[in-house]
Amino acid sequence: MKKIKATITAIGKYVPERILNNFDLEKMVDTSDEWIRTRTGISERHIAAKDEATSDLATSAFKDMQKRFTVNPEEIDLIVVATITPDMFFPSTAALIQNNIGAKNAWGFDISAACSGFVYAMAIATRFIESGQYKKVLVVGSDTMSSITDYTNRDTCILFGDAASVVLVEPASDENSGIIDYLARMDGAGKDLLYMAAGGSRNPASHETIDKRMHYIYQEGKSVFKFAVSRMADIAVELLERNSLTGNDVGLFIPHQANKRIIDACVRRLKLKPEQVLINIQNYANTTAATIPLGIVDGYDQGRLKKGDLLLISAFGGGFTWGSMLMRWSL
Ligand code: ACO
Repeated sequence: MKKIKATITAIGKYVPERILNNFDLEKMVDTSDEWIRTRTGISERHIAAKDEATSDLATSAFKDMQKRFTVNPEEIDLIVVATITPDMFFPSTAALIQNNIGAKNAWGFDISAACSGFVYAMAIATRFIESGQYKKVLVVGSDTMSSITDYTNRDTCILFGDAASVVLVEPASDENSGIIDYLARMDGAGKDLLYMAAGGSRNPASHETIDKRMHYIYQEGKSVFKFAVSRMADIAVELLERNSLTGNDVGLFIPHQANKRIIDACVRRLKLKPEQVLINIQNYANTTAATIPLGIVDGYDQGRLKKGDLLLISAFGGGFTWGSMLMRWSL
């Protein structure tokens, strides 16, 4: 029997209207536009409105997908949502999105893998499609990072933004296109370097957890930086090598957008030319699970992702988690 391959058949994105730029942040904490741009590559980020939660961002991204492609929500079998900022612990954000978009024949779930969430979710969708039992899987990367960011802490508040992006994964009609391979890894020993301490069963919400600002992201930036640089590049190189490919073969590399210096180090390691790399961190900052699918939509809109191109994605995030995926673009 011929192996079924999975491929991306539709895409959509949403970024909230409100922009918070580096000059706005200068008025909020002791920082400067110059420091933020040179240390991270970020100029501005989008921030959700008060009444916009993660499922709303994702619903808007799905509507954008429907404007671009013919997608019938009732035909979706499964919804996999990558997020670390769900609307609430339960019901899942997948259930809320299912209801919002009218995907009444779908089941689904959320996965928590921080900035690697989209790669993990794509790995799951790929396996469901390859099983032959699923025809349409909606993969969502959506995060409202502003809801867990401490805007009095300059170490973290400059880094994050809000966004959602969605892709539809279906069986490939052409065996030369679609998802070729992926690698996903995790090392829980990184748990003390990047986390949100409270709100879960270890530190349930209390006056004390609020007073101690434990409901916000904590990150030891310098240590995480070192891991991110090596893991994100190593895994992409390993994936290329095990498919007998090199950086030369890559049409477009879309890395997770946490810091331009991390991306530049990866690009050097992969020996890529600037035209092979998509960087949009300047406009959105780190939108966690949304960065890579947002990059896919931007790359497609800019004509930098064309049918037949080899697309390489790679991410690193809290956990630690990291992963990479290779696909032959089919849109
Ligand atoms: N403005 C001005 N100065 C600042 C700011 C700021 N916003 N933040 C820190 N500084 C100061 C520090 O206090 C320090 O001052 P000192 O030398 O007097 O002590 C100096 O700048 C250097 O600080 P570092 O933390 O060493 O700066 P670094 O160059 O490492 O940049 C950053 C910090 C941007 C956080 C970087 O370490 C980074 O990008 N880390 C990795 C992020 C990442 O990949 N995370 C994983 C994904 S996120 C997720 O999964 C949710």
